[in-house]
Amino acid sequence: MAGWARTLHLSPQLSEGVIAQDLRVRKGTMTTDEGARRLEEIQKDPGVSLLDWGMDVLGLPSSWPVMACERLPETIRVQRLHSDVNEVRNILSSFGAQPLPWYGDGWVLPWARQRPPSEKVGEILRRLHHTGRATLQEAASMLPQYCSDQRPGQVILDLCAAPGSKTTQIAELTDDEAVVIANEPNRGRSNMLATNRSRVGHRSVIVTSSDGRHYPRLPAPGADAVLVDAPCTGTGTTRKNPNVWWTWKPNMAVRMHRLQVDLMVRAAHLIKGGGRLMYSTCSLDPIENEAVVAEVLRRCAWLDLEPIDRTTLSDVACAGGMEEWSVSPKLRNPPPSAIMDQRADGASLSRTLRLWQDGNHGGFFVASLVSTDESGATARGLIPSGVDERPIGSGPTPFEPRPLEQEDYARLAKEWGDVASGALAELGMKRGKRWFAVTDTARTSIHDCVTDGGKGVLHPSQAWAPLRVEHAGVTVFKEEKYGLRPVREGLRWMARHLVDRTTVVPLETAMMLLQETQVDITEILGDSQVKTGSYLIGVEGTGHVIPVFVNQRLSLMVDEDERQMLLLMLGSEHLA
Ligand SMILES: C[S@@+](CC[C@H](N)C(=O)[O-])C[C@H]1O[C@@H](n2cnc3c(N)ncnc32)[C@H](O)[C@@H]1O
Repeated sequence: MAGWARTLHLSPQLSEGVIAQDLRVRKGTMTTDEGARRLEEIQKDPGVSLLDWGMDVLGLPSSWPVMACERLPETIRVQRLHSDVNEVRNILSSFGAQPLPWYGDGWVLPWARQRPPSEKVGEILRRLHHTGRATLQEAASMLPQYCSDQRPGQVILDLCAAPGSKTTQIAELTDDEAVVIANEPNRGRSNMLATNRSRVGHRSVIVTSSDGRHYPRLPAPGADAVLVDAPCTGTGTTRKNPNVWWTWKPNMAVRMHRLQVDLMVRAAHLIKGGGRLMYSTCSLDPIENEAVVAEVLRRCAWLDLEPIDRTTLSDVACAGGMEEWSVSPKLRNPPPSAIMDQRADGASLSRTLRLWQDGNHGGFFVASLVSTDESGATARGLIPSGVDERPIGSGPTPFEPRPLEQEDYARLAKEWGDVASGALAELGMKRGKRWFAVTDTARTSIHDCVTDGGKGVLHPSQAWAPLRVEHAGVTVFKEEKYGLRPVREGLRWMARHLVDRTTVVPLETAMMLLQETQVDITEILGDSQVKTGSYLIGVEGTGHVIPVFVNQRLSLMVDEDERQMLLLMLGSEHLA
């Protein structure tokens, strides 16, 4: 077993490294009473074993607990495709926020997480998040996307996606012109993913629900990139989730290690030649990080470990991955891969990236692997079995989103005009009463191809099978008794395509509507015979569109958060 090295020594990087340097500066600078109280609490509690593990097994410096108890700063990611992006940046600046030097969409606010200076400010942040204008997200969690190079037109699989912060970030970094397949097997969490998808309203996001270890076949040639943001013990999250001090047990990492390796090996079989596989966790434990990467490299010889460029992250106290580590003597039945670096003769694990819980970040680990197969070659797990004639398997199920039909287009043209019908011509789908817009990439590369399902089954085109698709793209209309009602998550689509069907009103009138003052409907819509149904109101001189429903009276079709945000953006509300 040449090249297998037992790893029993502490990494010199770790003892002399980033944490130590950072703490030399920060030593004794516990900035909040809350952090100091937490530290005292965990130091006194004999039930907290994570502290000893960090110091004795991982070899962290004695000042590590100070840092690991300090609350993280509040960070938020601006939704760069939203029409209000500049207003959102202005609001954040007025709160004293600064963009992260390494990633302009990420902003750090001058207070601790969930501790805004006033209720009003907290409410505005919450509303920015709920209305999809921004996403409250830890800075470290923005890193995997920043370190990769996703592009429009690509097929990207986010294998462990809920609640979806990284899914929506990838969709934005690809201008909402790729397809991001967001997968989550846990039912409760996949609902969170669906909610997040609808909050932000991206056409490129498709939601599936499968165990990532057995993820179904994608259409050939496979994914351009797969992100495995793996389930983990979360030992790097004590600054946002203090419960981890009490819930963590040494052996949890062993179970996670097996799951993480299995997820990565499946992902490795789904990337096409030249494609990229990103791995990340919010754990400090090498068993869940470097050991997983080493084992995946050993099992998947077509992968190479790419160095992550740390020069652009100069303000982030980050380090390369560990080359050696020791493990707790309390581990029960650890697999050899958890305690050995099996690639001692291969690519250096220091090519990976580690964030130790420094001043502005939680603990995080990122690795970037690339397929060395010929560029564009079919992914290893999708190569046909060699049998030419095989039965066509099941077609689309009634539960899947499916393309709109002729009669749907006729109805759309009648109710919302030819432009709407044209805009949805290539990219319109429906399921039940909901109508969606999806990206061209999703339609052509994931939906319109014949897929080799393996085991002698071919899935026909015009179906999502064998993927179990739960949501596709952004919902733009819902069928109702009075016709097709526009849905809020599709506002961006509407503002772009339904210009002809939008009645533009002056700012003052829009303000009256938003303040729910009764207005003369016939005057606004310029018709004495206004029919019951849905209408769009544009606000003069701005890109804002407000969907309304007219019956005896006019009702806003936006929720309270959106109403308040529109009032703020249009200038009637003042910032605290
Ligand atoms: C770290 S979280 C992902 C966070 C997410 N990427 C984000 O940025 O919002 C890991 C997710 O993996 C899911 N998970 C657990 N077991 C899984 C499996 N076998 N296959 C796929 N996902 C799994 C968990 O339910 C959890 O939602």
